[in-house]
Amino acid sequence: MSAPGVYADLQAQRSCWHPVAYGHQLGDKPARADLLGEPIVLWRGPGGEPRAMSDLCVHRGTALSLGWVKGDEIVCPYHGWRYAADGRCVAIPQLEDPSRVPARARVPAYQVQERYGLLWVALAEPRWPLPDVPELEDDAWALVSAGPYRWRSDAARQVENFTDFGHFPWVHPGLLGDPARPVVPRHEVRTEGNVLHYSIVRPEAPNTDDFPVFGNEQVSPPERRSRYELHLPYTIVLRLDWGGQRGMVYFFAGQPAVVIQEFENTIFGQDQVIVESQRPDRVPFDLAAELHLKFDAVAVAYRKAMRAHGLAADPSAPASPGGPVGRGGSFPVPGSVPEQGTAAPGSVPEQGTAAPGLPGQGATEAALPDS
Ligand code: FES
Ligand SMILES: [Fe+2]
Repeated sequence: MSAPGVYADLQAQRSCWHPVAYGHQLGDKPARADLLGEPIVLWRGPGGEPRAMSDLCVHRGTALSLGWVKGDEIVCPYHGWRYAADGRCVAIPQLEDPSRVPARARVPAYQVQERYGLLWVALAEPRWPLPDVPELEDDAWALVSAGPYRWRSDAARQVENFTDFGHFPWVHPGLLGDPARPVVPRHEVRTEGNVLHYSIVRPEAPNTDDFPVFGNEQVSPPERRSRYELHLPYTIVLRLDWGGQRGMVYFFAGQPAVVIQEFENTIFGQDQVIVESQRPDRVPFDLAAELHLKFDAVAVAYRKAMRAHGLAADPSAPASPGGPVGRGGSFPVPGSVPEQGTAAPGSVPEQGTAAPGLPGQGATEAALPDS
């Protein structure tokens, strides 16, 4: 199925934070998610603390997510074994003394945190903290979520599409780009640890009647400045501004969230057709595999950084530290993710993370300044 080459190494990505669900989707009942091919169960402790562990009961492999929560324990629906938050089985009702649990009766528990309205899980000790996006935790900004968008591609294809400036006038004419101005402005990428920084002032389409989402006044020709942080492997924070801060705040004061959501749905739909047609469906991280020109600087920096950090590897190479490169990692629940153009005005916001693995899936969150 897979051509030889360098692809995303899902094993290496176990030690990264990944969004697996919106926080509001997890209530009193356990929920399941798949992360990097691993079935996980999410549930909440008595104080609402999120918990994440393997979704396979050690007894007979039953999905714990079909069970229920009792106090700070999750109960398997098949024989009622109870597991504590650290994954230890603490009660086996079939025993004379249910507390005499063998030491092997436990399931892996994973680190989980709830931030920016999302549940983030790391399957192994995370190498990097979550990105800081203070706007998403600031009540002065309104949060608009869009997605998740599930694509039949890997997450890296989706991330690269988000970072690709050259396609705007072609794929999103009149919405994100102006076909009369297709030249990609110069931009430079600065890589610091696992974060790529770059910004660009680029030509943009004027607002349309359908999607009056941009903060620019109708000056012609409009431009907008986008400041990106791409946090390896799949999270992008994009801050946008059009220059006139006050005008933007006013512009968005009465903007209903649905306009922005429908705009994102349209943009993501346009991108989906393109990205799902790409072959190989996974990003080949070997720089010789595709043709890069100067304006593809971000993709080049991304591919280099992913390899440098061991997040992409050649599975056929004996020295490869990671396990098999699978295509797993679907998120039935929203990975949060990114796409350009969340018309977040004012100088900020839009944060996203791409869910790893296949299918590609994304959601966007835009924080908009409240009036
Ligand atoms: S399968 Fe879970 S308790 Fe038996
Ligand atoms: Fe796009």
